Amino acid sequence: MDMLIGCLHIQIALVILLLLTQTSSTETSSYGKNTASCFVSERSALLAFRAGLSDPAERLSSWKGERCCQWKAVQCSNRTSHVIKLDLHSHAWSIYFNGIRAYTEPEDALGGSISSSLLGLRHLRYLDLSRNMFVGARIPEFLGSLPKLRYLDLSGARFVGMVPPQLGNLSNLRYLNLDSDYGDVYSKDITWLSRLSSLENLRMAKVNLSTVTGWPSVVNMIPSLRVVDLSGCELSDSPNPPLHNNLTSLETLNIRNNDIYEQIATNWLWDLASLKYLDISYNSFYGPLPYKIGNLTSIVELRLPGNNLVGMIPSNMKNLCNLKALELTSNNINGSITELFDQLQGCSWKSLETLFIPNCNLTGRLPTTLEPLRNLSILDLSGNKLTGPVPLWIGELANLTELTLSYNKLDGVIHEGHLSGL
Ligand SMILES: *[C@@H]1O[C@H](CO)[C@@H](O)[C@H](O)[C@H]1NC(C)=O
Ligand SMILES: *[C@@H]1O[C@H](CO)[C@@H](O)[C@H](O)[C@H]1NC(C)=O
Ligand SMILES: *[C@@H]1O[C@H](CO)[C@@H](O)[C@H](O)[C@H]1NC(C)=O
Ligand SMILES: *[C@@H]1O[C@H](CO)[C@@H](O)[C@H](O)[C@H]1NC(C)=O
Ligand SMILES: *[C@@H]1O[C@H](CO)[C@@H](O)[C@H](O)[C@H]1NC(C)=O
Ligand SMILES: *[C@@H]1O[C@H](CO)[C@@H](O)[C@H](O)[C@H]1NC(C)=O
Ligand SMILES: *[C@@H]1O[C@H](CO)[C@@H](O)[C@H](O)[C@H]1NC(C)=O
Ligand SMILES: *[C@@H]1O[C@H](CO)[C@@H](O)[C@H](O)[C@H]1NC(C)=O
Ligand SMILES: *[C@@H]1O[C@H](CO)[C@@H](O)[C@H](O)[C@H]1NC(C)=O
Repeated sequence: MDMLIGCLHIQIALVILLLLTQTSSTETSSYGKNTASCFVSERSALLAFRAGLSDPAERLSSWKGERCCQWKAVQCSNRTSHVIKLDLHSHAWSIYFNGIRAYTEPEDALGGSISSSLLGLRHLRYLDLSRNMFVGARIPEFLGSLPKLRYLDLSGARFVGMVPPQLGNLSNLRYLNLDSDYGDVYSKDITWLSRLSSLENLRMAKVNLSTVTGWPSVVNMIPSLRVVDLSGCELSDSPNPPLHNNLTSLETLNIRNNDIYEQIATNWLWDLASLKYLDISYNSFYGPLPYKIGNLTSIVELRLPGNNLVGMIPSNMKNLCNLKALELTSNNINGSITELFDQLQGCSWKSLETLFIPNCNLTGRLPTTLEPLRNLSILDLSGNKLTGPVPLWIGELANLTELTLSYNKLDGVIHEGHLSGL
């Protein structure tokens, strides 16, 4: 008993000690030099960097005086007082038009040139210059010499020219965004990417990669990847990467709007078992979908429009229990709608929210009875060769917000019973 109480006392004493040390460390940090001033060398680096910029909206008017850690867009480490973050993204409006994202020219954009004085910020971990207007400037090679950088966003900042391979020196990088809205940035050889051994998020949409071969082998060298966006990069065919698949964490792969002409069945894509979001729309993948597709058991969104896929979807797609969106638009399924529904009536039937199958040469009559698709909100079967009447189960799709059946050969009457439940 006594020993137990003794132990308790010691534990309480320890807790009090811990609380005391924590309070005192918070106090030092709130009175410490980090929130008040900053390193002189880093302040001069920031001022020299600013001197190269044009800033019509006067976003950087707070950049004066000693206390550079309090300047707008600058963040210092609470522990070391070094500048660790510079977030200078501008606020373009992004608008979607026909599925294409466009940006307005931001009023608060910075321009001018990016001074190599940035290298004075040796401890910088986070640099965001996105959506500014460095019109016609090249991505500076010296950015590859900021060794602590973990986050680099240069997207939509109107850079032109070659992506400097020096970026491959940023071995701590977790996030790299080089999305180029205007397609004026290119890379002829992306092997430098494989040196980014901590990279989780790779975004290079609309960077011209038309002369790159073997991109799958390059990304396969980076096992940490979770997100890869190489949409609109003019990618063409590439050999499948070596058999062993390193990409066990990859959740998102977007390669829409490229020029890939490859057989779909034997493609390495189906070995990416952790995928949740796959978009291969608007390429030239051809042939029937393989049975292997049923192995993508984590898949949530599968977007396959605008390829040359032929034939019925495989029956084990019904095992994809997380599938919310299936888009097959403009492929030659060339089979009956009843069979297609049968292939999905299982696990995926319950999760499906979006079913886009227009312009797929679907034939036959819509089945008269159907197990309800309880979660379905969008159903598009337009532009097919469907015949017969519109069945009453349409009215049982309680979550439906969009129904498109136009451009078929349907007949009969649509009455209140079809629609009153919607
Ligand atoms: C620094 O401390 C402030 C206040 O305690 C906190 O809000 C902020 O997130 C901390 N910054 C970092 C980088 O840890
Ligand atoms: C950075 O990368 C370039 C080319 O990729 C290389 O020549 C150079 O030696 C690297 N610099 C450092 C400091 O690692
Ligand atoms: C992409 O690069 C290739 C080869 O350099 C070039 O022929 C093509 O015009 C470029 N594409 C665009 C949209 O500029
Ligand atoms: C897997 O990744 C490691 C680390 O980058 C690399 O050395 C290896 O070659 C990769 N394997 C394949 C098959 O690409
Ligand atoms: C699906 O995955 C299982 C287990 O990972 C594997 O044994 C099987 O061969 C795969 N099926 C196909 C068609 O690749
Ligand atoms: C539908 O089939 C016709 C031939 O019957 C073919 O010409 C057309 O390309 C097919 N549609 C699609 C989207 O493949
Ligand atoms: C569509 O399917 C029918 C019957 O299965 C077949 O005869 C025809 O050749 C197919 N058409 C195309 C364009 O694949
Ligand atoms: C249906 O949708 C709801 C809301 O998004 C979700 O919670 C539920 O899990 C879905 N049902 C299935 C079977 O996926
Ligand atoms: C569909 O409707 C049911 C009840 O009407 C609701 O519980 C469920 O969350 C809805 N699913 C979605 C995806 O909104």
